[in-house]
Amino acid sequence: MKISEQKIEEIRSAVDIVDIISGYVHLRKRGKNFVGLCPFHHEKTPSFTVSGEKQIYHCFGCGAGGNVFKFLMDFKNISFKEAVEEIAEYAGIKIQYEKSELTGIQKELEELYEINVFAARYFVEILNKSPDAEEARLYLKKRNIKPQTQKIFGIGFAPFGWDNFLKAAKDNGIDLNKARALGLIDINEKGEYYDKFRGRIIFPIFSPNGRVIAFGGRILVEGENVAKYLNSPESQIYSKRKSLYGLFHSKEEIRKLDKAILVEGYLDLISLYQAGIKNVVASSGTSLTEEQVQLLSRFTKNVVLLFDADVAGQKASLRSIEILLKQDFDIKIMTLPKGEDPDSFINKFGKEKFEELISSAKDIVEYQTSQYESEGKFNDPSTATMAIREIVKTLALVNDELKRSLLIKSIVKKFGLRERVIEDELKKFLDSQQGKTIPQNLKTTSSNIIYENNISSFADITNISSYEKEIIRLLYSGNENIVEYILEKISPDHFTNPDLKYLVNLVVEGYNDKNISPAYLIDKITNDRLKNFIFKLTMTEEAISQKWDEFSLNGKIEKDSLEYAIETVLNFLIYQIEQEIKSNIKIMENTKDEHLHIELLNRNKELLNEKKILLNQKVKK
Ligand code: CTP
Ligand code: MN
Repeated sequence: MKISEQKIEEIRSAVDIVDIISGYVHLRKRGKNFVGLCPFHHEKTPSFTVSGEKQIYHCFGCGAGGNVFKFLMDFKNISFKEAVEEIAEYAGIKIQYEKSELTGIQKELEELYEINVFAARYFVEILNKSPDAEEARLYLKKRNIKPQTQKIFGIGFAPFGWDNFLKAAKDNGIDLNKARALGLIDINEKGEYYDKFRGRIIFPIFSPNGRVIAFGGRILVEGENVAKYLNSPESQIYSKRKSLYGLFHSKEEIRKLDKAILVEGYLDLISLYQAGIKNVVASSGTSLTEEQVQLLSRFTKNVVLLFDADVAGQKASLRSIEILLKQDFDIKIMTLPKGEDPDSFINKFGKEKFEELISSAKDIVEYQTSQYESEGKFNDPSTATMAIREIVKTLALVNDELKRSLLIKSIVKKFGLRERVIEDELKKFLDSQQGKTIPQNLKTTSSNIIYENNISSFADITNISSYEKEIIRLLYSGNENIVEYILEKISPDHFTNPDLKYLVNLVVEGYNDKNISPAYLIDKITNDRLKNFIFKLTMTEEAISQKWDEFSLNGKIEKDSLEYAIETVLNFLIYQIEQEIKSNIKIMENTKDEHLHIELLNRNKELLNEKKILLNQKVKK
């Protein structure tokens, strides 16, 4: 059931974020804002900041932040919808759900969930009661999966034979076509239905909210011509790329420990959980997808990768590492002794030994290096150079500069290289990436699409001019007059930095939708780094550089007044003109092309004229 965007905004603006958060965190007034001890990480001095003016919060310690809904979602570990409902109740607003949504697709989906619940119950019932499941019960016993654990994970058994589930489904009036769409049954050449899961231990796959969205089935008797695992196909309620096995069970613990252990298999996860290591999720045998990583990032940004020691496992882990790094995760990697997977390891050696291994996990560079080392890549200068380049590529994915320089130091130490060698390689690589710009045909699509298709994870957001920064800050101030004025004069195209372009574009979209409140806009930013950038910019008093103050009429104009915005826009436009003039001069110095030279000379004349006009406007005011 969907709540309309308009209603969501009505609910959000009906309450004061300071009131709501005060109910959970002790807040004190500091300047314009309120501060308190962050509820999302341990700290002794308050860096958790709430802005009543902008209706957002941000922790300068751990980076948590968002609007009032985000706070409740994270604080209470509830869904967006639940957060909206809670605030609505607090504000005494009645929610009307969008009717069209409810009747059509939503109803259809509900029916699919119900069929899956029916199937899950059926498989559990068989495992626990049927004489046909004796072998399965023995098998689980042999694998050391305790009855209590079976219950927690809803483990069941699909009996041998072709129509056991089918009969039960028919008896209970299940829509067979829908059961087929869910991959529980299929149709043979003769047009007869038959069970897809036969003689398999069943692991229901849950959504993060605990709904049964799919099944994984492990064969009981391994043979040459059968796959060890059979998994539900993609369906209206199941997308493999977007789900993580076990997350529903582990999310609480992951949040608490602020760390997730990533394993491959169903049984790996279940065995670790049973042994008391509950902050685990499983990728189900493939490398992670971007969507899975995004999902996980709602709970933690720290991951321990725990892959089998076999080569395939390592390949998958390298791909996963790349995706995790791009989303600013902190990664540790541990490899298990040869021949063991997490399940066999924990059952053989126990929890303590496992925790020892975890605490000795390596960082990515150490890991990658030792991998190449074991392949003998460093014995030969030519393969060694290639190996180092590969490692540098990994480094380039690390956005945090401090982290990056620590990693560089560790490589340098390891190989007795000079730091410059690595830094030069890194710079070379980054430069080769910088050139990749937004394809022309994507320019008019929505902000998020532009952003995701653009390789801008390397763009340095800290290295932008104070003029640009100040424009962005004003655009995210929530002041309608100011935003309207700026958007009249400045468009996303004024920015070359793709990150800034994206941020301005979001405001334009918000403006078109008649909503430019920071609490609304901040939710639309998909990238955490940029979200943080906006938080820092809008919630600190010292966001503006020293240099800027010289231009703001020595502080005579009140900040965030329209007058100040006008001044700021003028300064910004003048700055841009100066930049273009400078770059034109540089090109002229380096070109032998007469034609181009003259063209640029004329362009600079034009620019100087424009600048004069702008300067005049400044004086007039
Ligand atoms: N997998 C799959 N299809 C297969 C093989 C594996 O979907 N044919 C997925 C499953 O999610 C499985 C994971 O990959 O859990 C890891 O595979 P593997 O290591 O082969 O199996 P285990 O999980 O270790 O299972 P078991 O211990 O029972 O052998
Ligand atoms: Mn295994």
